[in-house]
Amino acid sequence: MSIPKTQKALLLPEKQGQWSLTEVPVPTPGPKEVLIKVTATALNPVDWKIQAYGAFIQNYPWIGGTDAAGVVEEIPDNVTEDQAASVPLALATVVTGLYNHHPHSKSVNFTAPWEEGGTTKFAGKPAFILGGSSSVGQYAIQLAKLSGFSPIIATASPHNAQLLLSLGATHVIDRSLPPAAIKQELSKLTGGKPIEFVYDAISLPDTQAIAYDALAPGGVLLLVLPESIPAELKKEGDNKKIVNVFGNVHPPENREVGVQLYKHLTEWLQKGIIVPNKVEVLPNGLAGIPEGLERLKNNKVSGHKLIARPQETP
Ligand SMILES: NC(=O)c1ccc[n+]([C@@H]2O[C@H](COP(=O)([O-])OP(=O)(O)OC[C@H]3O[C@@H](n4cnc5c(N)ncnc54)[C@H](OP(=O)(O)O)[C@@H]3O)[C@@H](O)[C@H]2O)c1
Repeated sequence: MSIPKTQKALLLPEKQGQWSLTEVPVPTPGPKEVLIKVTATALNPVDWKIQAYGAFIQNYPWIGGTDAAGVVEEIPDNVTEDQAASVPLALATVVTGLYNHHPHSKSVNFTAPWEEGGTTKFAGKPAFILGGSSSVGQYAIQLAKLSGFSPIIATASPHNAQLLLSLGATHVIDRSLPPAAIKQELSKLTGGKPIEFVYDAISLPDTQAIAYDALAPGGVLLLVLPESIPAELKKEGDNKKIVNVFGNVHPPENREVGVQLYKHLTEWLQKGIIVPNKVEVLPNGLAGIPEGLERLKNNKVSGHKLIARPQETP
């Protein structure tokens, strides 16, 4: 196979600059690395946040993107490359937060599904997932199911309810209900059982307040954004553990759980244990990404992932 010397890339030339479609050298893989021809890349909220706020990235120019699927790894036949591109970041955000046992990890340290007892020890325990139709939320529902939690209650807009039920949610609460009504619904659906596991896949101030309030003393709450729980909700002796997840398998403390995840992922995808997000392929490859990021920023994407195919860049 002949490898081209250059490739197209969508990059930020400087901090908080404008996206620029340009030609860059194809990198040469080092030891223990592979060169992947990216055929589909997914858009994530972090991409517009890096551009708008200048967060996370120190060195510019920076080539955007945190998810990709391509042609080195074999992909199960029942999953398209576009669907596969929706998996890495959002699934890692759930797996590293739930099952990482590293002493420095941001994790609630649950027994993993690949460990003894990992699919049975949570049986009959309720899980509450806020933002179940988000990309992260869809994987949180599926892993809650794999871990054996029941019931699995998610919040979302009603038009996404069927999708979430198909992924393993047992109940979907309309996310537009007032917090008191959501709380009431929760207690009805759990039969008053304490909720000791809450995953807030949205983690805005209003969802964090609902999440923290719903959590039983001694329970665990996973947040995907920095904590902003109103002080008046916190009570002495609550003993509610809050974990800010970091969905990236590359830092040293996330590597081992990342290896375990990727050992099992192919089988999970083949068996439909993990179903990728529904996708919408954007027109014009990399050139379509800035407009897609605007839609993400303005909450105009519901229940699916935006995907770009670099080879379709004009
Ligand atoms: N910490 C980390 O490492 C990490 C990693 C990945 C993502 N994140 C963060 O996690 C968040 C989710 O990312 P994502 O890619 O999963 O987002 P996404 O798929 O773009 O989220 C879109 C969904 O959010 C739902 N939503 C919006 N506001 C909601 C609310 N108040 N209550 C319930 N659902 C709500 C919408 O639901 P409906 O359409 O059903 O209304 C929509 O389906 C982002 O803020 C992202 O930056 C953090």
